[in-house]
Amino acid sequence: MATRLHGASVTLRPATPADAEALTKILAEPEVTQWWPRYDHARVRDVLVDSPDTTVYVIALDTEIIGSVQYVEEPARDYRHASLDLFLDPDQHGKGYATDAVRTLVRHLIYDRSHHRIAVYPAVDNDRAIKTFSRVGFRSVGIMRQYERTADGTWQDCLLMDLLEHDL
Ligand SMILES: CC(C)(COP(=O)(O)OP(=O)(O)OC[C@H]1O[C@@H](n2cnc3c(N)ncnc32)[C@H](O)[C@@H]1OP(=O)(O)O)[C@@H](O)C(=O)NCCC(=O)NCCS
Repeated sequence: MATRLHGASVTLRPATPADAEALTKILAEPEVTQWWPRYDHARVRDVLVDSPDTTVYVIALDTEIIGSVQYVEEPARDYRHASLDLFLDPDQHGKGYATDAVRTLVRHLIYDRSHHRIAVYPAVDNDRAIKTFSRVGFRSVGIMRQYERTADGTWQDCLLMDLLEHDL
C-alpha cells in the first residue's frame, strides 16, 4: 500500500478514483495532451487510477492537485527496475515542482523499494521533460525508434534515460 511522500515543496499522495476528474482536466490542457494524448475520464480511471500494474500519485500543493507521477516495477529478479512518468498543470510549469516530484519518487524507489535502476522514456523532442529528468540525475542512454504513438497517430522516437543510485 503506497503512502504519502513529502518533497521540498510538493506532496505525493496515492491517487484514488475521486482524483480522476481533476487529473482528466489537467490532461485536457493542450500542453499536456501533446505528450499524453487520448486520456478522457474513463481512460484516466481504467488505465491510470485503477491500474493494477501502475502505482499512481497525485502531485499536490497543500490540498490542490497540480499533476500526477506514476511508476511501474519490473518484477523479474534479474531485470528488476522501475520506470516512471508524470504530467503537471501548465499553470505550475517552470517552478521546479516536477523536478521535486521526480526526485522525491526516485528517492522512494531507491531507498524504500530497493531499486538500483530507474528508467524514463521521454519523446526525443520533449525538451522540458528531458531537462527535468536530467536535473534529477538521469542520463541519456539511446534512442528508442518509433517507440510511442503521438497525438496524430504517427510513431515517434523516444529517449531512453536511466538513473543509478550514484547519479542522484
Ligand atoms: C515535463 C513537465 C512535467 C516538466 O515541468 P516543468 O515545470 O518544466 O519542470 P521543472 O519542475 O523541472 O521546472 C523547471 C523550471 O523551473 C525553474 N525552477 C524554479 N525553481 C526551481 C527549483 N527549486 N528547482 C528546479 N527548477 C526550478 C527552472 O529554472 C526551470 O525553468 P525553465 O523552464 O525556464 O528552464 C511538464 O512540462 C509537463 O507536464 N509536460 C507535459 C507532460 C509531459 O511532457 N510529461 C513527461 C512525459 S515523458
